[in-house]
Amino acid sequence: MSFFDPEKFTEESINTLKSELTDKAIIAASGGVDSTIAAVLAAKAVGDNLLAIYVDTGYMRLNESQFVSSMLEELGVKYKVIDASKRFYEGLKGVIDPEEKRKIIGELFIRVFEEEAKEYGGKFLVQGTIAPDWIESGGGMRDTIKSHHNVGGLPDDMAMELCEPIRELYKDEVRLLAEFLEVPVAHRQPFPGPGLAVRVMGEATPERTNIVRKACYIVEDELESAAKNGKMELPWQYFAVLLPVKTVGVQGDVRAYGNTIAVRAVQSYDAMTAQALDVPYPVLKKISERITRELKSDVNRVVYDITDKPPGTIEWE
Ligand code: XMP
Repeated sequence: MSFFDPEKFTEESINTLKSELTDKAIIAASGGVDSTIAAVLAAKAVGDNLLAIYVDTGYMRLNESQFVSSMLEELGVKYKVIDASKRFYEGLKGVIDPEEKRKIIGELFIRVFEEEAKEYGGKFLVQGTIAPDWIESGGGMRDTIKSHHNVGGLPDDMAMELCEPIRELYKDEVRLLAEFLEVPVAHRQPFPGPGLAVRVMGEATPERTNIVRKACYIVEDELESAAKNGKMELPWQYFAVLLPVKTVGVQGDVRAYGNTIAVRAVQSYDAMTAQALDVPYPVLKKISERITRELKSDVNRVVYDITDKPPGTIEWE
């Protein structure tokens, strides 16, 4: 069994980065643990010569931009937030095919980031690539189930020199490192690169995205507090999906015709397989009550997804 020493790794990594990053460097920060750690290590090595760019695609979680900004601030990483939401909403207008959504978001992200990198004049591109990222993308044996968009997956033909300080690490080592570096997202649940766009089935309009953003927040809030109070284990991943079906309901004594939200909570080890979690019924009831109350004018039905992966995937698109 190998032994990973985060303190030693940090020291060696900073030394290497000091000699590698001889000019301005830039990193796309997503708020996820991998890119945050890469940013912290690089900032420790070169200080303000590193600029972290956070692109708000409009498909982020509730209050995510503020959360990431204050985290980077506290960690001593110089950063810039780009609100590109209008461009992304425009790009996804009328698009309902999941693969097309992913492709458009991935390409737009690269375009926005490239513009910023050019303006800043970065010579080095730091990425939070970790071992499974390049191991899994190495084989041509697998069917493309979903083309993953990763902030860490920017093309290396960006006329900048690539620097990947944590590319030899596995997720458990990354988490140990995050704890050592006091990066508060060490145990945060995974979030897909295309964001909430793949949690709105059908066209991901700003209005529909806002519905799923609030529903996701309620699911997170309720499951995290249930886990904290010892009612259940914290799932590996948990969120809401907005379905493209309307159903009839009743509000007060008036007929309603509203949207449906599906709630998903899974347990997994490595996201390759996953089991739908047996969430205690009172917790599910509370989630349903809150969603239909707090999103009263939009949602009148909540269902729970009991499908494992396989045959499902974790996300719905
Ligand atoms: P699926 O839905 O394929 O997802 O079972 C497996 C895990 O990957 C996350 N996911 C993504 N992560 N870029 C990412 O970085 C993506 O495009 C992407 N799509 C899905 C998903 O949330 C789950 O944790």
